[in-house]
Amino acid sequence: MSKHDAEIRKKVETEIQEHKQIVEADTYRQNYHHMPPVGLMNDPNGFIQWKGTYHLFYQWMPFETAHGAKYWGHYTSEDLVNWKHEAVALTPSEWYDKDGVYSGSAIVHDDQLHLFYTGNIEGEREPEAEYQCLAVSQDGIHFEKKGVLIETPKGYTGHFRDPKVWKNGDQWYMMIGAQTEDKQGKAVLFRSEDLQNWEHIGPVAGSKEGKLGEFGYMWECPDLFELDGADVLMVCPQGLEADGMDYANTYQSGYFVGKWDETAETFQHGDFRELDRGFEFYAPQTTRDEKGRRLLVGWMGVPDQYEQAHPTVENGWVHCLTIPRELKWNGERIIQNPVPELAHMRGPVLMHSSITIENDQKAVRGVQGRSIELNLDFESLEDMFAIELFQYASLSYKDHVVTLSRPNLEDRSKTEFRRVKLDEGLKNLRLFIDQSSLEIFINGGEEVFTSRIYPQAEEEHILFTSLGSTTFSVEKWDLKGYEYS
Ligand code: FRU
Repeated sequence: MSKHDAEIRKKVETEIQEHKQIVEADTYRQNYHHMPPVGLMNDPNGFIQWKGTYHLFYQWMPFETAHGAKYWGHYTSEDLVNWKHEAVALTPSEWYDKDGVYSGSAIVHDDQLHLFYTGNIEGEREPEAEYQCLAVSQDGIHFEKKGVLIETPKGYTGHFRDPKVWKNGDQWYMMIGAQTEDKQGKAVLFRSEDLQNWEHIGPVAGSKEGKLGEFGYMWECPDLFELDGADVLMVCPQGLEADGMDYANTYQSGYFVGKWDETAETFQHGDFRELDRGFEFYAPQTTRDEKGRRLLVGWMGVPDQYEQAHPTVENGWVHCLTIPRELKWNGERIIQNPVPELAHMRGPVLMHSSITIENDQKAVRGVQGRSIELNLDFESLEDMFAIELFQYASLSYKDHVVTLSRPNLEDRSKTEFRRVKLDEGLKNLRLFIDQSSLEIFINGGEEVFTSRIYPQAEEEHILFTSLGSTTFSVEKWDLKGYEYS
């Protein structure tokens, strides 16, 4: 570690200590979500399980609740439930990453943890250069930077980042999110035999590639992986126009399913599908854990959307990550569900079966709280059903359409909506509610809404409304959070 790096680390530690009291006293602080100890958190990075331990890094600006020269913060866990906040893993300390250690991924090779990341150099308004870099670690805690591996090839702008590395047989591959000089978003592939020397193969998918028409001016955070026999490219295209219920956030996050041909090094794929229908979800990253599961964590935020309007900003922190989810492919779409380990957070179950509400609004005894899991199974639903949460957000269902509404974060007198149309009727809802967030898994994880919520601090009430008659059962668990050590 250079002297400069050591000084930066000390500054980060001081910043955490100085803000600790005010940050931790914030009533919107969560119980079981990853948050920055201070400052701004964005993308999950370097998600991996190594020697049993899960490592989850994240984009972190410790000195402001705004974007800027990012660091890699670091959490570890043995069980995906209890997490430890480790010392900052990477700082912007070198000429090639001085304006930000941007997003990237992790692999294990030669018994060392390898982090691939983007070193960002800012220009006046856009990045001037983005380098793909490597850092390695013997112990998973201390990292040694190995410098620049890849410089941006000709034909691309300064937006060239977010390396995701994986192995196919004897070959290593790296996928990078990119923008061409004519402002088309692409996922660009490189190949290597030794993780040092990388050969530029070219775009394997992107706006105006293959059968895809105009599809965004920049693609961020690409992630290609196999899931239950399907090949999936997850990516965050920027610049898609809102289209009915689709593409409602500033930037999108979703996936293409197709065939990765490792001989031809091509990816033929079908249509893009959004991963999440809520207000805050972006830059997800997956890993295959030691049990062989495909796990996903996303950022509960969207760039440029309400960046400063979150009320936690005044207490010195902003944004968090989603709970860890397990992915499955059902032949038609990706199914997302919370990892089963989260059941260890549960207290005793409270259960009501066959509740009928008819043209009425009701509370259900004991079904309330701000750190809870709810599971609703519907027996019959005639017309419209809604759940009102904490006099703040509402989730409603009618004519196959699920709508989540909440006050606009910038102007609370306005209500805003996110919607999705289900293929079939509403059968099941699973809600993970934390102090200031909401993750709703619909019909066994076919659709998900992820959002921040900012109700009054003490508000715990949940009301159920039905037009016509609805019969459902509900289970509720209080969730104890993890210790923030
Ligand atoms: C996505 C992103 C990445 C970049 C990082 C910088 O949210 O813009 O493309 O690496 O954030 O923090």
